[in-house]
Formats: sequence, C-alpha cells, structure tokens
Amino acid sequence: MQIRTFDQYQAAYQHSIEDPEGFWAEIAQEFVWRKPWKKTLQWNFDEPSVQWFIGGKLNITENCLDRHLAERGDQPAIIWEPNDPHEAGVTLTYRMLHDQVCRMANVLKRNGVTKGDRVCIYMPMVPELAIAVLACARIGAVHSVVFGGFSAQSIADRINDAQCKVVVTADGAYRGNKEIALKETVDDALIACPSVQKVIVLTRTRTPVSMIKGRDVWMEQELKLVTADCPAEEMDAEDMLFILYTSGSTGKPKGVVHTCGGYMVYTAYTFQNVFQYEPGQIHFCTADIGWITGHSYIVYGPLACGATTLLFEGVPTWPDCGRFWDIVDKYKIDILYTAPTAIRSLMGFGLEKVENHDLSSLKVLGSVGEPINEEAWHWYDDHIGKNRCPIVDTWWQTETGGIMISPIAGVTKTKPTYATLPLPGVQPVLVDENGKEIAGNGVSGNLCIKFPWPSIIRTTYGDHERCRQTYFSTYKGLYFTGDGCLRDEDGYYRITGRVDDVLNVSGHRIGTAEVENAINMHTGVVESAVVGYPHDIKGQGIYAYVIAEQMPEDHDAELTKRDILATVSRVIGPIAKPDKIQFVSGLPKTRSGKIMRRILRKIAEGDTANLGDTTTLLDPGVVDEIKAGALVEAKA
Ligand code: PRX
Repeated sequence: MQIRTFDQYQAAYQHSIEDPEGFWAEIAQEFVWRKPWKKTLQWNFDEPSVQWFIGGKLNITENCLDRHLAERGDQPAIIWEPNDPHEAGVTLTYRMLHDQVCRMANVLKRNGVTKGDRVCIYMPMVPELAIAVLACARIGAVHSVVFGGFSAQSIADRINDAQCKVVVTADGAYRGNKEIALKETVDDALIACPSVQKVIVLTRTRTPVSMIKGRDVWMEQELKLVTADCPAEEMDAEDMLFILYTSGSTGKPKGVVHTCGGYMVYTAYTFQNVFQYEPGQIHFCTADIGWITGHSYIVYGPLACGATTLLFEGVPTWPDCGRFWDIVDKYKIDILYTAPTAIRSLMGFGLEKVENHDLSSLKVLGSVGEPINEEAWHWYDDHIGKNRCPIVDTWWQTETGGIMISPIAGVTKTKPTYATLPLPGVQPVLVDENGKEIAGNGVSGNLCIKFPWPSIIRTTYGDHERCRQTYFSTYKGLYFTGDGCLRDEDGYYRITGRVDDVLNVSGHRIGTAEVENAINMHTGVVESAVVGYPHDIKGQGIYAYVIAEQMPEDHDAELTKRDILATVSRVIGPIAKPDKIQFVSGLPKTRSGKIMRRILRKIAEGDTANLGDTTTLLDPGVVDEIKAGALVEAKA
C-alpha cells in the first residue's frame, strides 16, 4: 500500500476514482479480519448512510497489537515522555502494551462494561490514556475521550449525551508548572450524570481526592485483581468504535461517530503514506489524545502500522521553549507532527533553544489543525527541517477521521500554505453558494467531498438528523466540510478557513454559539455576539461583544470582564475564554432580528472602513458606537 513516487500516487489516485471498491478492498486485505466482508461499500449521501466492508468482522486491537507480536513484540510501541524532563519516561513494547491493554480491558469488564457500552475517558497524556482507549476497543466498548481542559459542565454534557456507564480518569494532571485536578472536575460533573455507575481513577499527581464507596475505584488496585488474558471481542466493521465530540456552528458539541473497519483502514493507510513511515522510526505527534489528531495519529494509525509512537505529557514551553527540540534530540525523532499555533509560538522565542539541539534525526515534518501561514511554514522548513525535510500540511477534520488533502512526504512537491492534493480515495469539489460545482483551476469556493472514503463520519450520536442537516443538506449529494478553499493553477488546494460560525483558536475548534451561550449565562448579561479575529499566535482570537443590563464603567468593566471569563471557563473550559470583550449598548441586527456578524467581524479585524452595506440594519447608529468602542479596546 506504500506509494513511493509521484507516478505511483497518480496511478493510485486514478485507481481509487475508477474503482473505489477495488482500491480499498486491496488495502483492507492487508489487515487481520476474523471474517471477510461481503460487500465493500454501500452508500447514499441523502440519508446519509455509508457502510464499508459490510459483514466483515474484526477487532482493531488485534490489528494494532496482536498481529505485531510475532514480528515486533519487543519493539517499542509507545514511548512516553513525562511532563517533567527529570522524571523517568516509560517505553512499552508491543508485548507490554498488549499485556496492559488486556489487563485494563479486564478491569473495565470487572466494573460492568460490556460490548456497546459507552466509556468516558478524561485523563492526562499518560500511557494509561492510550491503554484505556485500546482496552475499550478490545471489548467492544465505545470510548468517548474528553480533552483534559474541558470543564465539569462540558464533561457532564458529553457523558449524558452518550449515556456513559463508566468514567476513566486520574487524580490530577501535570501540564508545565501547573497541576490540574481532574478527579475533582469529574466529581462536579457526576452530580448531574445518573448513567455513570463506576469511576476508575489512576494516581498521577497524588493530589487528595474523594473516593465514593461503591462508585470510585483505584485503577492500580483493580489491575492487581485481573489477568492479562482478554480475547478480543469480534466486532462488525460497522460497529461503533468511538464517539468524539466536536463543535459546530449551532448548539452543543455533537458526538461524531466512527466505526471499526473503515476507520482502521483509512488511518493506517494515511499514516503510512503521508508520513512515509519506515520500520524502526519514531513518530512524534504533539496533539492531545483528546482530539481527533491524537486518536488517529498517536494511537490507531501508528499502532495499526506497527510503528513507534511518542506520547508527550507536557507543553512545548516548559521548562523552557526548547522542549520539543529536546525531545527530538533525546529520542532521535524521525517524524514530527504539530500545529501551526505551536510553531508560531515557538518562533517568537528566537533560535537559541533550537540551535543547541541536534535535530538531524528528523525526516518529515507535519502540520495540522489550521491554516499554516507562510512565515511559520518557512521557519519550520528553515530552522527545524533545515530545508531537507518535506513538510506535509495535512487538511482534515474530526468528521473525516483521517487526513484528506495533503502532500505525501517526499513524493508530492510542496508549496507553502498549500495542503496540495487529495489523497487517493478523496474526491474534493469546490462549490458556489448555490451548490454549483466550480470546475477548473484558479478558482475558489466551499469545499465539499463527493464520494465516501472509509473513515467518513457515520452519524452524530443519538441524533442522525443532525448529522444529515449539518453535513449533507447544505449541498445535495455532497459532504460539506464547512471550509473555504482555493484551487490554484496547478490544481493544488489551499484551505482558507471556516466559512461557518466555527472558530479555530490555537487549532482548537470552538463554536461561536457555544461561547455566546456561556457568556449569556453570566449574571447581568443580556446578549452577546462572538466572532473570530486574526491573532498572531493563536491563528484566531475570540472577540465578544456583550450587552450588559447596565453598561459598566471603567474599573467595573474590567472586573466584570474577568468575571465573564471565569464564567466561560466554568461552563466550557479555559480554551474558550474570549481574548477581547467589548461592552456595547446594542448589536447590529437586520430588521428580522439576525445579527450581522459580517460587520462585527470586520470591526474585530480593525477593518472599519469597509463595512459594506449597513442600510438594512434596524439601527445603523449602533455601528458607529461599536466602532468607537473597538478603537478604545484595541488601544487597551
Ligand atoms: O478548518 C479546518 C481546520 O480545522 C478544522 C477541523 O477541526 P477539527 O475537527 O478539530 O480537526 C482538526 C485536526 C484534524 C477544519 O475544518 N484545519 C485542519 N487542518 C487544516 C485546517 N485548516 C487548514 N489547513 C489544515 N492543514
């Protein structure tokens, strides 16, 4: 399945378009199936209904673990680098990982988890997180990993939506010089989660935690009570593997559902090809397993390919801004996969901490999560890759499960800021507002995909209609990504950013509606409108226009802003805190009551000269007031 040359890429692409079923069947055959599939693909985008490898039976952990034991049982599967560089790390070989996953799976079973049950995982970036994920998959339980930075309220929403039976967590987490109380947050969440019967708690920080009799158990103690014998559950290719919550333009985050067969085949295929992974290499993806990047390119993709994957608990700037380079040097990392926001933030510290490390082991650099600006691309290329490592700018989404548009390292000619070409099996189209396909090159439009790939979203958990509405109803017969995109004269794709009300802040996806709801919960707030604005490091910053019952004056305004930030932190989590808050007496609305975000966006961007047509506004006067206030805000 490995593509080595551009000709091979073109041939594979052609094959995947002419005969998608034959193309994917050939790749899928390289995995271990308990029973072969009867039909490779059945689909329609109207319901939508997509099924791959129909009737096929497998367990993804047999492919990620068992099948590697004979040949590479003693090869490292996971290398763990703790937050504190002075703490000893952990290396788990495939045999050790297999053993620990089986034990953890038995712990889940002991605590009542059976096939199909949902398990919420809220953990620091420690090996036990990956182990818990795989343990769920081993017994056919559906994992729902919640990023460790989300609030109790966010956890509760996710647990309740999926009706999780068990939570796996830790006493606390280390992140840089901070210690974060995870169990306490889970305890707060569980006040409102009647479905949860058991909480399995790992000790990490040894911070005091309450342990409720009959509900809470220590992971270490439970592990003493089980054996390492846990046969893998036989799963249907279309059985649910996991739910991962992600933000959209409206309402609460939705649970994106991925299934066993297609997700496995696609993440392994893309991992192997995009990064051109070679046996023995070490892959370092800096994402958190709480996001899709971590699911697909720390855990499942690399392990399905028998790779060595590095899991890092800490942050790029602690103990100093050379931490990534320290890790690259220490482990002789071959592939580094990170986000533009991290690159931009490290760029700001200069080269001192880069140059005192040996980065010569690096062979491929990856970028993911947001558009990479030209300056960051070149800095990455010049100073990290030393102009000898291809940069793969990988475009994809939680809903796509794996990388969709990206260079293949060393095979596709790269171009700064371009995700370049679709991978085999991916059929992108650009459409105008009416859904009409924009053909040819040198054009831009809304990015859609017109044919299913194996790891396409199957549904949004518990609400299939929401899945249809969000992704398959905007343009008939197409999966709509929510992204704007241009295709240049060479047919290369460049993602320009979201065209809906979704923000991308430091590579984290946040819905404006979610942030507004959180702000509106604050006492004294009447209404709010949230937009994104360009931010040097985060990519996008969050700008909130807030109407208060009483317009606060100077000092009070600052205090109220702090309180609003605390409310947002409490309701969603610190990642959703606005960077700027401006109190306003009104919002620009149309006569039908719709907020004209276009105007608010322009003002937040500082582009007040070109606000366009404001004559349809109910009260055009409000715009001048907001403009004046924004100037004061910008100076502050
Ligand atoms: O806007 C695109 C942006 O991130 C969105 C998906 O976010 P999420 O589901 O959290 O997944 C992020 C990791 C895969 C997309 O709709 N995005 C992701 N990768 C890129 C990107 N924008 C530009 N270039 C990329 N390489």
